[in-house]
Amino acid sequence: MTDRREFLKKSSLLGLLGLSTNLIGNEKINEIETTLTNLGETNAFNMPKLNYRFDELEPFFDAKTMEIHYTKHHQGYVDKLNAIKSTNIDFLSNDEVKCTHIDNFTMAAVRNNLGGHYNHTLFWSVLKPNPKAEVNLPKGKLLDALNAEFKTINEFKNLFTEAALKLFGSGWCWLVLQNGKLKIVTSSNQDNPLMKINDKTQFEPLMKPLLALDVWEHAYYLKYQNKRKDYITAFWNIVNWDEVEKRFLG
Ligand SMILES: [Fe+2]
Repeated sequence: MTDRREFLKKSSLLGLLGLSTNLIGNEKINEIETTLTNLGETNAFNMPKLNYRFDELEPFFDAKTMEIHYTKHHQGYVDKLNAIKSTNIDFLSNDEVKCTHIDNFTMAAVRNNLGGHYNHTLFWSVLKPNPKAEVNLPKGKLLDALNAEFKTINEFKNLFTEAALKLFGSGWCWLVLQNGKLKIVTSSNQDNPLMKINDKTQFEPLMKPLLALDVWEHAYYLKYQNKRKDYITAFWNIVNWDEVEKRFLG
């Protein structure tokens, strides 16, 4: 017999495949379940694979911080999400769509842990190794759009850095696309620009996150202590601009 928990896990996979339980029979669902079990993917939420080793973002992000950040902090959000038995999360949608359903009335555990999972997954994807410390700048259509909105790439980086420095306490700094316009925004704790938090985002067009910077102290304290600015300066060296542009064009 399949209990509610198993149904949610299964529904999540179906959602990822763009399928609906109404459209396919039990046989197909069982086949997917078997595939899931064989893959060991039995949780509704799973850790993303990194495209680099923990030590490959050195010397900008140190290996120890990366290891703790990924295996303790991010893993913690995923574990807590999977442990939530009763929730109104729409398990048939992907994580991005799930975030758009979060508002002030959502259970704190769902809001915090889903945000923590989504935000970190995006963060890892927009980082890349830069062992020779080469100049690292966006190019192509993304560069054109950043120049058009912020005049120069340096001005964009300055404004983004300033916003990240001004953020009080823990949170995130974002480059987002809203109605075709690039914007820099920040969010507290594990909230993100997809969520309908407070009235300000309730009726606004959806913001699509393109670039994320984790400004929780756990992201930099081991190497940079309280020097958040040094951490942000290091961050610019390892931004995966190709991935950001893919999100911009996608
Ligand atoms: Fe973090």
